[in-house]
Amino acid sequence: MTRVIPIASSGSCPFKRAAEIDFMDPVVQENWFTAYDILRDEAPIYFMPQIGMYVLTRYDDIEYVLRRPTLFTAGPDVQDKEPLIKHAQARDLYEQKGWRRYTSLGENLPKHKHYRALVDPKLTLAAIRNKEPFIRGVINELIDTWIYRGEVEFMKEFAEPLPMIVIGELLGFPRMDLPKLKEWSYAWVLPFSRGLSLEQEIWAVEKHIELQHYIFDAIRDKRRAPKDDIITHLTQVELFDVEIDRHRPLTDTEIIGIADHLLIGGNETTAFAIANGLWLLFRNPTTYQALQTDPTRIRNWVEEVLRIESPTQGLFRHVTEDTDINGFNVPKGATLSIRYGAGNHDPAKFPDPVTPDLERKNAGRHLAFGIGEHVCPGATLSRYEQWLAWEVLFDRVRNMRPVPEKDDYTHIPGFWLRALKQIHMRFEKA
Ligand code: HEM
Repeated sequence: MTRVIPIASSGSCPFKRAAEIDFMDPVVQENWFTAYDILRDEAPIYFMPQIGMYVLTRYDDIEYVLRRPTLFTAGPDVQDKEPLIKHAQARDLYEQKGWRRYTSLGENLPKHKHYRALVDPKLTLAAIRNKEPFIRGVINELIDTWIYRGEVEFMKEFAEPLPMIVIGELLGFPRMDLPKLKEWSYAWVLPFSRGLSLEQEIWAVEKHIELQHYIFDAIRDKRRAPKDDIITHLTQVELFDVEIDRHRPLTDTEIIGIADHLLIGGNETTAFAIANGLWLLFRNPTTYQALQTDPTRIRNWVEEVLRIESPTQGLFRHVTEDTDINGFNVPKGATLSIRYGAGNHDPAKFPDPVTPDLERKNAGRHLAFGIGEHVCPGATLSRYEQWLAWEVLFDRVRNMRPVPEKDDYTHIPGFWLRALKQIHMRFEKA
């Protein structure tokens, strides 16, 4: 079993110095925050030989990088250098059977902002607010299925289906396709855990190609019979293409890439945020009590969950010219591992970072959704789902507590995402 160190512990730490920390080590992955604290103190910009990247753990350094999207790019140059699918045999399947694994939203400037201009208007607060009755309805329906049982595996029966149903509705996918979408979505994120075997990569790519065909069929249907959903919207809008200096419709490859990015972005991370929030609640009974008595503090709670238990712990940036970050030289061509989770635990920015504080003034300044050019377009949707989920949970469910004999509350090993394997809870009906 993976060794677990309580979040604020320092005593029994298996690694004490930066040089002992390897981000591919499952023990480090279970104990990110201890590792980040050591790196931030000893070497806040640290070249980690095991992964061949510069790791950034200080809030200010991360912000500096994210605010300079031309000097530090997120786009295809990084993806070409660090291909997500490592085995060429698995990668080739895209060409043979599907579409390129291409996400327009992962482009660099100046292209990037034109893609975002097509997507962002569908994910504004006003657009999401229109969906509130639907989202609330889904939350209540899910709770109805287990409220009389007194016990639930919360990940499978609440945290995962909620965002999946919601993003499926926004994209315009029928609800009955949910199980397939879930499996495809799991396959899409699987390569992010790194170190997959050839067989695992082939499985993940084949599932992704099934998803691409599914979206392609939806595009064809919606071109024929438009609906009020994001895929229809993408078939109707025109992109300003900087290469030809005029507007044009999106290609099927572009729509497939945007839709699958939104589908996956829209569910895995939000599911992890909701589940991580419950785990944080289990460990902080005073906060739980404060929320139960005063639900107006839920918004701050959600920010604290996102900050303390950031579902996306880190992503890449590519260095486009020799430069320095806070006086530390980084060469052109280097890859940076930006650790949002570490910036969010930086005590210089967030005093007593491991403790949820419902009065924290800068709670919303966390990096869980990134910042700058590539800031998450789904942040409002995700926050809204979490606000409503907690509101209804605090209203209908009492005394939520862990079930230690069934669950060790450890995480799926992984480099980028922080995801509990499962989360069993007992409770009483309100
Ligand atoms: C708790 C939930 C979520 C978390 C923690 C999260 C986190 C992030 C982060 C850290 C980034 C990268 C920013 C960067 O490159 O610096 C990102 C980008 C993105 N997210 Fe989210 N996200 C969440 C929910 C969503 C939702 C609900 C959607 C879709 C509706 C979504 C879609 C995307 C897309 C498409 C991008 C790429 C944007 C770009 O590069 O321009 N995410 N997200």
